[in-house]
Amino acid sequence: MDQQVLKEQVAEAALERVAARHSDRLLLGIGTGTTAECFIRTLPAIRSRIEATVASSERSATLLEELGLPVMDLNSVGPLDVYVDGADEANAQLALIKGGGAALTREKIVAAASEEFICIADASKRVGVLGAFPLPVEVIPMARSHVARELAQLGGQPVWREETITDNGNLILDVHGLQISDPLDMETRINQMAGVVCNGLFARRPADVLLLGTPAGVELVTGSTLS
Ligand code: 5RP
Repeated sequence: MDQQVLKEQVAEAALERVAARHSDRLLLGIGTGTTAECFIRTLPAIRSRIEATVASSERSATLLEELGLPVMDLNSVGPLDVYVDGADEANAQLALIKGGGAALTREKIVAAASEEFICIADASKRVGVLGAFPLPVEVIPMARSHVARELAQLGGQPVWREETITDNGNLILDVHGLQISDPLDMETRINQMAGVVCNGLFARRPADVLLLGTPAGVELVTGSTLS
């Protein structure tokens, strides 16, 4: 089945879950990427129930505004009801690799500020061990070479994503060749390197629910059901 169709199916499933489980004055955190964009395009259907959205990237904010949805700064709203976003990989505990779209830092902030994190993805994102997808790390520009050497000491091969400047004015190193058997430990170790702003492991704050698009339909996966 076409991957785009799977993304649209999980986006619709996320909309249904948000509409059924959350209040009538919704404060929504909105992710970044092609799957998150499918979700954004479903939102006009519940426009009257949305008090505010907080976007994890300028790109998503622009699309939300084009659709006439209210976009606010995270500092102007309280905790968010729910965050909906895609992922590059998800493991059995719903720990994720994110940041393929370079929005990892704002994604992690908005996820942390949200009561529930619904991850939406097609079935290709399900993995046993995280790390086949190169792990994005956002770094302060002057620290790029230093952090790259530190990441190499962890056993990875960092590659500078040269064409990319993040929404925060920083750089991205994509770390290839990691087999991440303990995502929480790896997330913590990389975050402790001087010059690292954030890394794309979401283990400390994993997804609460994964809606996985498969040719047989949308699977609702929680930490205990993914295998
Ligand atoms: C952006 C992200 C995205 O959620 C991730 O890259 C998945 O993107 P897509 O839905 O296009 O496959 O983390 O920084």
